[in-house]
Amino acid sequence: MSDIQAALFSRFGKKIPGGTVLFQEGDRGEEMFIIQTGKVKISKRIRGVEKTLATLEKGEFFGEMAILNDKPRSATAETLEDCEMLVIDRKTFDALIRGNVEIAVRFIKRLADRLRETNDQMEALMIKDNTSRLVSILAKQVKDQKKSGDFFMTIEELAGLAGIENSQVRNILEKLASVRILELAGEKVHIATQDQVDRLLRYLEMREIFGEMA
Ligand code: CMP
Repeated sequence: MSDIQAALFSRFGKKIPGGTVLFQEGDRGEEMFIIQTGKVKISKRIRGVEKTLATLEKGEFFGEMAILNDKPRSATAETLEDCEMLVIDRKTFDALIRGNVEIAVRFIKRLADRLRETNDQMEALMIKDNTSRLVSILAKQVKDQKKSGDFFMTIEELAGLAGIENSQVRNILEKLASVRILELAGEKVHIATQDQVDRLLRYLEMREIFGEMA
């Protein structure tokens, strides 16, 4: 941790255990959060079903919308593991944005990225057939993966993104594993090689051309 980070952490830092609901959709919001370590799930209930909008990690922020537009929380935030976060109140956030152009520009860029991601997600969610939708979302997650190396994702995360029951996601993934497009390790999808990524993309193309026959 640099000196600046340590100073920020001693002033605004909080350690929050995994599985904590930080706020729920519809709550009034007075604080925004910047993740230092750990992961946070942002989700929304759509027609009674919980849908994951995003999983956020180190360096990412959330909870800024309610403060910026003075509206209730647009989604629920829950820690997926033990986290360290900077928790910034409305007044401090306002002062940070107004007093530092660089910080303001970083926020705007990140919000623009988020809008782009949401548009991409919308495109994927328009795909009616569950298998193609799942494969398309999986291919995008692999492409956008933040860390280098093997790709891992839990079945639950994938099910949340695709809006499909966990058990059905497992069935689809088992079929893909049987033709070695990916591997299933317990509750995790594992994609290890570029060859598997290529197969995944080819499979998607085939389904686009031939539909459910493929
Ligand atoms: P807020 O509305 O205050 O509370 C929920 C937060 O979730 C919201 O601010 C954003 O920070 C975050 N959020 C909402 N929608 C998305 C999304 N599609 N992708 C990533 N983060 C989101």
